[in-house]
Amino acid sequence: MSEQQSLRVDGQRLWDSIMALAEIGPGQHGGSCRLALTDEDREGRDLFVRWCKDINCSIEIDDMGNIFARREGRDNSLAPVVAGSHLDTQPHGGKFDGIYGVLAALEVLRTLSDNDITTEAPLEAVVWTNEEGSRFAPAMIASGVYAGLFEKEYAWSRADSEGKTIGDELKRIGYMGDVSCSQHAIGALLEAHIEQGPILEAQQNQVGVVIGGQGQKWFDLRLRGQDSHAGSTPMPGRRDALVAAAEIISMVRTLALDFAPHAVATVGEMSVQPNSRNTIPGEVFLTIDIRNPDEAELSRMASVLRACVIDCVDKNGVECDLDEIWDKPPVKFHADCIAAVENATRDLGYSHQQIVSGAGHDACQVCLVAPTSMIFVPCAGGLSHNEAESAEPADLEAGCNVLLHAMLNLADRRPA
Ligand code: GLV
Ligand code: MN
Ligand code: MN
Repeated sequence: MSEQQSLRVDGQRLWDSIMALAEIGPGQHGGSCRLALTDEDREGRDLFVRWCKDINCSIEIDDMGNIFARREGRDNSLAPVVAGSHLDTQPHGGKFDGIYGVLAALEVLRTLSDNDITTEAPLEAVVWTNEEGSRFAPAMIASGVYAGLFEKEYAWSRADSEGKTIGDELKRIGYMGDVSCSQHAIGALLEAHIEQGPILEAQQNQVGVVIGGQGQKWFDLRLRGQDSHAGSTPMPGRRDALVAAAEIISMVRTLALDFAPHAVATVGEMSVQPNSRNTIPGEVFLTIDIRNPDEAELSRMASVLRACVIDCVDKNGVECDLDEIWDKPPVKFHADCIAAVENATRDLGYSHQQIVSGAGHDACQVCLVAPTSMIFVPCAGGLSHNEAESAEPADLEAGCNVLLHAMLNLADRRPA
């Protein structure tokens, strides 16, 4: 075995870094709350930048706030081999979703630095802005701008529930860089991530070689009925927006079951007006997230959804605006990047399988413009977007070793 083949990351250092990041914006139940572009997000970014500077990486920040930490290669005219993910979390987020991918990339750079290894192409660790889409919809917006899926002006103008925009918040936290997003070359991108589902754990496989991601559509639905007195308004003739919403939520679940086994559908957010116990609710806003690995099936789900919403509002005497705010077709990753991950996994002797991602990831955007793949590791019970999210240190270390060797391989032999 050559010196390079026997190279391994420091699993303890990786774990300690993940735990240190989780101390920024701690949740109330052991997880993290670091919504995109908040002060906590800035603090997390600052720590990452400091760690990268400690190993002499140069830092570039683009005008979507994406951070690229670069370790020079022998031939710096080559586009870099990049790895990373996101540092923002869900409101009740775990310690690992996104963070693992960023800190696994950092651990690879640290390992090469410890061992004085210079690759042919430069290597980079990346942090993508607003992957979660929780504070600002849609998700994966900055990697989406990078991939040419969204106009930058559209992305900057997206507002949170208080009307604060991505553009203003990027400036406020000091992460509106001067490099134009998408100008930064990427030779290949790898993203390590916890699986966020139960498959690897059930199959007792330590690594998932990710071959693509399922499609998803996001809708905003506003239902308008009429506020009216809860005591004196007879049941017939009420225009109760919340009753219509309740029927739609149940219908969304049925929709996914009707498109089994791969479809999923979720209402994750709702607000009720005027939200008073003795007034019939006159207005409800809710979000709908539908996903399917098959593009035609996803379109059919959307058609059924539209028809059912119209039926339901007619029946309840309410009106609605149903807006499809995001359409993300399924993606397939690049054969050379998949092979780099699969070969590294096999050479390292980890049990593994190919897998399609159920969650959205920045890699699912960037793959439209650069060769890409992902590495999954199991998480306990498949649980994610939950503060109780957890992963075994040995699995995180295994995924990081795969990342190290896949990056080394790609840095010396670029995908076509
Ligand atoms: C991102 O976390 C998603 O919604 O899949
Ligand atoms: Mn994620
Ligand atoms: Mn997530």
